Amino acid sequence: MIRDIQRKIIELKQENDICILAHSYQAKEIVEIADITGDSYKLSVEAAKVSSKNIIMCGVHFMAETAKMLSPDKHVFLANPLAGCPMAEQMDAEMISAIKAKEPDRKVVCYINTTASLKEVCDVCVTSSSAVKIVKNMDAKRILFIPDCNLGAFVQKACPDKDIKLLQGGCPTHARVTKAELDEAKRLHPNALVLVHPECRPEVTEQADYAGSTSGIMDFAAKSDAKEFIIGTEISIAEHLQYRYPDKEFYVLSKDLICPNMKITTLMDVYKTCEGIGNNDGKAFEIQMSPEQIAKAKVCIDEMIRLGG
Ligand code: 13P
Ligand code: SF4
Repeated sequence: MIRDIQRKIIELKQENDICILAHSYQAKEIVEIADITGDSYKLSVEAAKVSSKNIIMCGVHFMAETAKMLSPDKHVFLANPLAGCPMAEQMDAEMISAIKAKEPDRKVVCYINTTASLKEVCDVCVTSSSAVKIVKNMDAKRILFIPDCNLGAFVQKACPDKDIKLLQGGCPTHARVTKAELDEAKRLHPNALVLVHPECRPEVTEQADYAGSTSGIMDFAAKSDAKEFIIGTEISIAEHLQYRYPDKEFYVLSKDLICPNMKITTLMDVYKTCEGIGNNDGKAFEIQMSPEQIAKAKVCIDEMIRLGG
C-alpha cells in the first residue's frame, strides 16, 4: 500500500513538475519520495536553487514560508496546512519592535522558526546549524536573540565576547527533556555518546558529547567510530539513523521527544497535494505572500546566507 502511494507520488511529481522538500523529522516513507531532505538550513539553501515550477514542503509552516521567500516565482505548497511550529508563534513583530525602540543599538537575531511577519523586524536570521557562526561573524556586540532561549544560551556560551539578551521562548518538544532523563540514559548505556539538539535545555546540552542541528547530529553519528549513541532530538532522527547504520545502536534520550507538529504530515497528504496541484482545483494548500511582504522578510534571510555561507 505504502509503495503504491509512493509510486503514484513519483508519477505525479514528474507529470506536474513538482519538487518535494522534506525536513529530516518527517517519517521514513516521506523522506524516501523527497527530492531534498535535510535540516532547516539545507532546506533554505536548496529551496533557492529549485528549478521545478511547484515545491511541496513536508515540514512546518515557517519552512514553507521560507521556501516561498527564496523561490518567489514558484508555487510553494505545505503538504498539511495544520503543520505549524508552536515556537514560531511565541513572539510577534509588535513585541520585538517595542524592545528595539528601547534598545536601538541591539541587533535582533531571529531563529528561522519564526513567522515571516516577525522576520520583517529582525536583522539576521539563523538556523541551529549556522547560529554560532553567524553571531560570531556579526560586527554587532549587543544582540537580542529570539525566540529560543536554549539555542540563545548555547550561542552565548560559544560567543562570550557578545552581550546577548534572551527572552523566554523555545521548543516545547526539546525543552521537555530533563537532566534526570539524560542521567538515566547514560546509566543504561554507559558506552554511548550523547548527541543533542541545542533546542534542549543548557543543563542537557552542556553534558552532551556533541550539540548541533539535525544534520549535524546525523553527520556526527555517520562519521564517528563509536558504536552506541543517545540521540537528544526528535525521535525520527534516531529511527533514520538506526535504519541507515544497522551496525550501530541508537537510543532515544527521552520517549517524549516527539514533535506532534512534524508528525501531522502523512504520505497521503503528500499524495493529495500532488493531485491538487495537477487538478488545479485549489485543494492543495499554497503559501500566499505579497511581493512587498517577501521583500521585507527576506532581508534577514539574505543576511543569514551572506554571513553563514
Ligand atoms: P534544524 O532543522 O535546524 O536542526 O531544527 C530542528 C527543528 O526543530 C526544526 O523545527
Ligand atoms: Fe517546532 Fe520544536 Fe517541532 Fe521543531 S521540534 S517544529 S522547533 S515544535
